[in-house]
Amino acid sequence: MRAVIQDRYGTPEDVAVGDVPEPVPSDDQILIRIRAASLNGSDRENLAGRPFYARIAGLRRPRNPIPGSDVAGVVAAVGSSVTEYAPGDEVYGELAGYRGGLAEYVATPPRLLARKPPGMSFTEAAAIPQAGCIALRATRAVRPGDRVLVNGAGGSGGSLVIALAKHLGAEVTAVDRADKADFLRRIGADETIDFEKEDWADRRAEYDLVVDLFGRRSPFRVHRALRPGGAYRMVGGHTRILFAVLLAGPMIRLAARKRVGMLVVPQSRTDLESVGALVADGVVSPVIDRVFPLERSRTALAHLAAEDHRGKVVVEVPQVD
Ligand SMILES: NC(=O)c1ccc[n+]([C@@H]2O[C@H](COP(=O)([O-])OP(=O)(O)OC[C@H]3O[C@@H](n4cnc5c(N)ncnc54)[C@H](OP(=O)(O)O)[C@@H]3O)[C@@H](O)[C@H]2O)c1
Repeated sequence: MRAVIQDRYGTPEDVAVGDVPEPVPSDDQILIRIRAASLNGSDRENLAGRPFYARIAGLRRPRNPIPGSDVAGVVAAVGSSVTEYAPGDEVYGELAGYRGGLAEYVATPPRLLARKPPGMSFTEAAAIPQAGCIALRATRAVRPGDRVLVNGAGGSGGSLVIALAKHLGAEVTAVDRADKADFLRRIGADETIDFEKEDWADRRAEYDLVVDLFGRRSPFRVHRALRPGGAYRMVGGHTRILFAVLLAGPMIRLAARKRVGMLVVPQSRTDLESVGALVADGVVSPVIDRVFPLERSRTALAHLAAEDHRGKVVVEVPQVD
């Protein structure tokens, strides 16, 4: 089968599309014929091997050389102990281990996957899993009238965070590059901040919730932007900031009565089904930036890394029989 192959950590130049053996599902796995896969910031991190947490899948080189975590496709075969899916079922979801999706086929345990809502395209379904589950968890406590700031708002996860926060009645400030401001307003942001011109963490007591997809600031700075009782949730960013947030969170809670912590987004079928239903009902929809064929995955990864994607980058797998 055709697949993207990444033998070492590096840049998009270090990946190639080539032929690898088609995977054979074990007893408890299903084989999915992939129709579309979407990219996330985590794919860029897993390609680079940076931040350090991206090396969980292999310290020196990726154990599974095929990148890509979010897929939608058709069940091609099932292992002997799998009862919930049958060949022909249409599924989507995030792959365990965040790898294996940029290929014609993947063999995976079915527990994280959900049935694709009828009427939803494979391209749209592939764009949902990681970004949607981040958005669902990040906005769980949002109340009408809350002021929410989303840092790193214009990328894969941010656009659905904005959409869900708006749906829940929040007033949203979106932080990203200046040239994404029009896009961010179009998808619902009430206010935008160009991170090259203004540091949002210099604002005082303005937000009930800060969702940080690009954590680079000390926890002792970010909490000042929160209103009393507010919460800062770091989704991704530098490893040292992650540790600082984990260590300082309890102190800040005691001293300032504000919650500063990491947002843990487990790979969850229940969350996926919840956000999939919101998309199927037209409540929110993932923003698809560009679609590339599998053979041009290196360009797709370069586009993700090139500082200009808005929403989701999707790779489609042409179906040839
Ligand atoms: N906590 C969890 O359980 C969990 C689960 C899954 C994923 N994650 C993490 O979540 C993060 C998700 O990111 P994503 O998929 O949304 O990434 P993304 O698609 O790369 O989006 C990041 C956005 O931030 C923008 N940006 C760049 N520099 C910035 C700055 N200095 N200030 C503000 N924004 C800036 C980027 O713009 P340009 O593209 O123009 O540079 C881009 O629009 C990743 O770090 C991933 O590892 C966490």
